[in-house]
Amino acid sequence: MKRVVCPGSFDPITFGHLDIIKRASALFDEVVIAVLVNQTKKTLFTVEERLEMITEVTTQYPNVRVDSWTGLLVDYCERHDVKAIVKGLRAVTDFDYELQMSQINLQLKGIETLFMSTAPAHSFLSSSLVKEIATFGGDVSAYLPEPIIEKLTARLSSR
Ligand code: PNS
Repeated sequence: MKRVVCPGSFDPITFGHLDIIKRASALFDEVVIAVLVNQTKKTLFTVEERLEMITEVTTQYPNVRVDSWTGLLVDYCERHDVKAIVKGLRAVTDFDYELQMSQINLQLKGIETLFMSTAPAHSFLSSSLVKEIATFGGDVSAYLPEPIIEKLTARLSSR
C-alpha cells in the first residue's frame, strides 16, 4: 500500500490544496492530509475545526483521510508507515524553503518528498492572502469551497 501525506496548516483549506489532494489521490493508494500543529503559529481556526473543514470538503475522495500531528513530520511518517510527503510548488519563491525541508526530512528519516506543480489557476493562492481578502470584504469564491467561505466569514465577523 502506497500511503503518502499532504502536510500543512490548512488555515483554511483552499482550492489550491484541494487540487493537489485530488491529483495525489489519483496516484496513490491512500492520501493522509495531516494538519501540523505549530504552537508558535497563531491560527484563525483550531486544529479540530480545520480537521472538520477538510473532512467536509474531501468526502468525494474515498482514499483520502484526515489526521493531525504535533511534532516532526518525519516522525508522523515513520509511525504511520507513510512512504512519501507530497507538496505543491506554486512558484520559484516556494522552492528554496521546500527544497531545504525536503533535504532535512530525507536526512532525518529517509522520507522522500514529491513535488507537484500547482495548477496555474492557483499559483498565487495562499491561505494567508485569502484571509486578508476576506477580512476586507473581498470576494473569495474563486479560492475556497462554499462551506469554507461560510465558516471563514462567520469567524471573521465574530472577532
Ligand atoms: O501550510 P504550511 O504552514 O506552509 O505547512 C508547513 C508545514 C506544516 C508542512 C511544515 O512547517 C512542517 O512540515 N512542519 C512540521 C514540523 C517539522 O517537521 N519541521 C521540520 C521540517 S524540516
